Amino acid sequence: MPGHDSLRKHGWPDGHTGDGYYRRLEANFDWYSAEYDASIAGNIIEGYLRSVSTKTLESLFREGDRVLEVGCGTGIETIEMLKRGVHVHAVDISSRMIERLSRKAEEAGLGYMLSVSRGRASGIASIGKDRGLFDGVVTTFGAFSSEPHIGDFISGAHAILKPGGLLVAGFWNRFCLFEMLLYGMELRRRRLSERMRGLSTRGNCRFSLETRSYSVHDFRRLTDGMFSTVMVKGLPVLSPPPDFARRLERWGGLLPLLLRLDERVNGLPILNRLGDYLLVVARRKLN
Ligand SMILES: C[S@@+](CC[C@H](N)C(=O)[O-])C[C@H]1O[C@@H](n2cnc3c(N)ncnc32)[C@H](O)[C@@H]1O
Repeated sequence: MPGHDSLRKHGWPDGHTGDGYYRRLEANFDWYSAEYDASIAGNIIEGYLRSVSTKTLESLFREGDRVLEVGCGTGIETIEMLKRGVHVHAVDISSRMIERLSRKAEEAGLGYMLSVSRGRASGIASIGKDRGLFDGVVTTFGAFSSEPHIGDFISGAHAILKPGGLLVAGFWNRFCLFEMLLYGMELRRRRLSERMRGLSTRGNCRFSLETRSYSVHDFRRLTDGMFSTVMVKGLPVLSPPPDFARRLERWGGLLPLLLRLDERVNGLPILNRLGDYLLVVARRKLN
């Protein structure tokens, strides 16, 4: 498979790639599932990330399209796709997250357009195998960065997408402008250097998990020969990462103002590579 050699170089610490790691991942997100929606709704920056991802998905997929979403969580973006007539097969490592999404879809009368599987991002080739080819594979703000076998996810997405189908991936960025400025000045370098080296340890992530960061260049190498990158957005670039939202609340209108600016610049060259997260759209090659 093209691109596969470069995937091997994206290491993960020993002992964090097997069944034990995935059990811990599931337990963490099962635990967070009850408070997940409230924690997103209560954080203006988290809300901004989902508003951009939702609008991007709306612009990419039409009524009748079929999307496989990985790391769907409670379905904040899934429900919006269903409302627009997109059929979604939603996958998550956490059974509690899937239960919440299924309940929300039933309550909204959209359950008939949704199917679900509990599973790993790296297992999508077998999850999607007998379901026909998809128009899109979507994964935002979580699973891409906490999947140790990312090469299997990417080759799996290639296998289950129609030629010309879209991979939409939101993941933790290696180069975050805000943190470079803040931590550079404050001399609190540990988190910054972990992020820039590509792997954050458990204590640095709000879900207490190892988290892998990727640059646009890393993403291109990972998908080389299988996908062409067609869009990159930095989320957010000028505003701080979500963890900082509470600390800046006392500045009143500052965050809404910064986020309005962010919406204007998130796709501009150079700035679009410097967000806390990156939202990347890549088209499956015809081969
Ligand atoms: C932070 S949530 C994001 C959910 C949703 N995309 C959103 O933006 O609100 C990440 C989700 O990905 C799931 N997840 C994380 N790593 C995964 C993996 N390797 N395979 C499958 N699901 C994973 C978690 O269980 C969790 O529900």
